[in-house]
Amino acid sequence: MQLHRQLPFVAGAIFLLLLFAAPSHAHNITRLLKDHPAFSTFNHYLTLTHLADEINSRTTITVCAIDNDAMSELLASHPSISTVKNVLSLHVLLDYFGAKKLHQITNGTALAATLFQATGSAPGSAGFVNITDLKGGRVGLGPEDNGGTLSTYFVKSLEEVPYNISVIQISGIIPSDVAAAPTPAPSEMNITSLMSAHGCKAFADTLLANPDAMKTYQDNAEGGVTVFCPLDDPFKAFLPKYKNLTAAGKTAFLEFLAVPMYLSMSMLKSNNGPMNTLATDGASKYDFTVQNEGEEVTLKTKVNTVKITGTLLDEQPLAVYSTDKVLLPKELFKATAAAPAPAPAPEVAAADSPKASKKKKAAPEDEDTADSPADSPNADVADATADGNDGGLRLGSGRGLALVVLGLWLGLLLV
Ligand SMILES: *[C@@H]1O[C@H](CO)[C@@H](O)[C@H](O)[C@H]1NC(C)=O
Ligand SMILES: *[C@@H]1O[C@H](CO)[C@@H](O)[C@H](O)[C@H]1NC(C)=O
Ligand SMILES: *[C@@H]1O[C@H](CO)[C@@H](O)[C@H](O)[C@H]1NC(C)=O
Ligand SMILES: *[C@@H]1O[C@H](CO)[C@@H](O)[C@H](O)[C@H]1NC(C)=O
Ligand SMILES: *[C@@H]1O[C@H](CO)[C@@H](O)[C@H](O)[C@H]1NC(C)=O
Ligand SMILES: *[C@@H]1O[C@H](CO)[C@@H](O)[C@H](O)[C@H]1NC(C)=O
Repeated sequence: MQLHRQLPFVAGAIFLLLLFAAPSHAHNITRLLKDHPAFSTFNHYLTLTHLADEINSRTTITVCAIDNDAMSELLASHPSISTVKNVLSLHVLLDYFGAKKLHQITNGTALAATLFQATGSAPGSAGFVNITDLKGGRVGLGPEDNGGTLSTYFVKSLEEVPYNISVIQISGIIPSDVAAAPTPAPSEMNITSLMSAHGCKAFADTLLANPDAMKTYQDNAEGGVTVFCPLDDPFKAFLPKYKNLTAAGKTAFLEFLAVPMYLSMSMLKSNNGPMNTLATDGASKYDFTVQNEGEEVTLKTKVNTVKITGTLLDEQPLAVYSTDKVLLPKELFKATAAAPAPAPAPEVAAADSPKASKKKKAAPEDEDTADSPADSPNADVADATADGNDGGLRLGSGRGLALVVLGLWLGLLLV
């Protein structure tokens, strides 16, 4: 599969640079499309789905706009906003295709990754768009798996800011059963199956196997929850450490990876600072710090730092992001002397939590496990407090760990 084929820039196109003054540093797709009333519905939905923010935060991209008639066709079946978002995100190519480059594709055909692929919503390679120079100077576009037929065509260039953003009109919606598949409203969404389908199955299975943590997630879902789920490879590497946690430690750890409010990507990008989690409970802080580095959003504890790698869901009131590593709470992964099995602690209202409505049974314990940050599965632990393993490494029962998802048909369905 030639997914990584890069198209070299056509040298002559540099000439175009001279034709377009650079008015400001960052582009604004909403403003660019404002001058094109035939695309007002498309523009409106870019805003509604937050795709506009995503587009504005990137450079070297191409937006394949469809006119109001084509949008009416898409909206005729009353798709959910999440489905519209998936469909439209397939129309944002993560490469710069001005009119000229479209007609001069090396070897006449290319696959372009799209925002649908990049945000983690697309299974497999469903988020790639095939661009092919056809006979008679036409440029066809279709989903990667197009069965030999490309039914959508390049019409004209609308705006070009070389090589930051190209906005082109195409003849209609790029047909993709995958992108157009019905997506339930966010509140009815099964977050664990969503995570499973998008590279975070190990975490989802672990969560499903922990009724206490599941309940906390569910209790908070209506008021807004943002989950930061580690991708499968890092989470699987971390599982032995998870198994070593006490029951209360396991629950606290899982709750620590979610925040009791809805945070869109743009909110994350503009809100640096400490963040309480579902595990925050009185003196057990279980918090982390959000910190932006350029376009990257990182989450930090005293133990390590992880990076957000994808958006699995971003629809009020729920957001789910994937992370490249397992974020470790200092409460569990800072070496302290091992303590006896945790006793249930009294309910303490998480006073500084935006939603203090947690219904947790046991407060998380500080003393669960002695674990040196230095032997975390993530070798690049930041400012590790290398306290060493002074005892307390005990085997968890291991029973919680679950590929035994069967009976636990819990999910995050809201009533
Ligand atoms: C393209 O984007 C970069 C980075 O945001 C910016 O510095 C540059 O001015 C932009 N160029 C144009 C022509 O807008
Ligand atoms: C983009 O432009 C629109 C319309 O002019 C404006 O409402 C919006 O605030 C702008 N967005 C940014 C991020 O500047
Ligand atoms: C174009 O085709 C040739 C011959 O099949 C191949 O070697 C080359 O890698 C292709 N170029 C690109 C950019 O795909
Ligand atoms: C794009 O689709 C056409 C038509 O199905 C096919 O012939 C071509 O090989 C595809 N291009 C790539 C890069 O997969
Ligand atoms: C888990 O605990 C056991 C027994 O104390 C210990 O041998 C093992 O190294 C620990 N595993 C991890 C990954 O910490
Ligand atoms: C959500 O999906 C998981 C599988 O990932 C399943 O075990 C669970 O029962 C589902 N929940 C609901 C409410 O459908």
